[in-house]
Amino acid sequence: MKIAPFATEQYFSLYEFNTPHLLSVSDCQMISIGELLDMAGRSEKELLALGLGYTESQGNPDLRAAVAKSYKKVTGEDVVVLTSPVEGIYLAMQAMLEPEDEVIVLTPAYDALINVAEHISRNVRRWQVVPTEDGWELDLEALDRLVTSNTKMIVVNFPHNPTGLLPDLDQFRAIIQIAQRSGSWLLCDEMYRGLEHGQKPQLPSAADLYDRAIVLAGLSKTHGLPGLRAGWLIVTDDEARASIINWKHYTTICPAAPSEYLALVALEAGAELAERNKGIIRGNLRMAESFFAEWRGFFTWRPPQAGSVALVGLAVESANTYCHDLAQSAGVLLLPASFMGYDDRHVRFGFGRHSFPSALKHYQALLKKNVAANS
Ligand SMILES: Cc1ncc(COP(=O)(O)O)c(C=O)c1O
Repeated sequence: MKIAPFATEQYFSLYEFNTPHLLSVSDCQMISIGELLDMAGRSEKELLALGLGYTESQGNPDLRAAVAKSYKKVTGEDVVVLTSPVEGIYLAMQAMLEPEDEVIVLTPAYDALINVAEHISRNVRRWQVVPTEDGWELDLEALDRLVTSNTKMIVVNFPHNPTGLLPDLDQFRAIIQIAQRSGSWLLCDEMYRGLEHGQKPQLPSAADLYDRAIVLAGLSKTHGLPGLRAGWLIVTDDEARASIINWKHYTTICPAAPSEYLALVALEAGAELAERNKGIIRGNLRMAESFFAEWRGFFTWRPPQAGSVALVGLAVESANTYCHDLAQSAGVLLLPASFMGYDDRHVRFGFGRHSFPSALKHYQALLKKNVAANS
């Protein structure tokens, strides 16, 4: 069966590795294996001695126990280690959904959250994030209206890619109550949890609040280690977990041994990695604030409450055309929001990298040049 194009990844395949000024990536600053081992006080000997045999399908028990420690009610038994975070979306939806099931997806969204749901179910409804003057809001009444007795799954992602929205605890509990009332699963993508860089406190994980939650998390964003391809699902329901692991036998069978080892090391250095990346985001956001204030007529800036990305309005005919032109003619990479189920007049900015200031300066120089040429 065909599936919709994964527009964001197709776009990044075109430009990410040949465009010098990356302004829209969602990951945070990566480090080398050597730096990671140093940070955790580990020697490379252990890594070099690691066997390259098959690993346990559900994941290494030590890694699962270490993952469980970042939740309150979760044990290692509830953790399914993935071969990449994105795999978790596919596994969870394949295992839990049938074509006639109703699914509600918070949109805009990372493509897989919408496209895999629509690939499996004929009844996907979009729950739209609402723009305000200076931010983004959840419309809980709209969610309440969308949910029916046939709703099988509600899909959310907090902190949210691409808006940077982070709900209050009361709002999060209200979403869970709505899910509870209809008996639906809550697939909660927590890939950016730990990147609360502003006033708002971290939310508890859905895994600690709701027994029908399926939580996706990993090391690509908060820890800045996307090349590890390390992620996990938290599934406290035994039957759901067994079904997910069965699907995993058809995709990747078991996690990569070196990734599992390094993921365990990364969790030991987890707090330091997250602090470091929040510091980078805060610095880049300060610079972005003055940039957007200077170019107010061209951009509509709604600052993110958490996470590494923001959704920014753009006064152009088509953000899609603009972004392709910008990448090809000026080597500056922005991401059109239409790929993530939003309109064609917004783009995503990403603030997690050390290279953001120089990329933004390059873009600013280009904007000034264009203004001078048109005046
Ligand atoms: C919300 C969200 N979920 C899942 C993923 C998948 O993570 P990974 O690319 O590390 O597999 C991403 C990646 O951008 C994401 O933004």
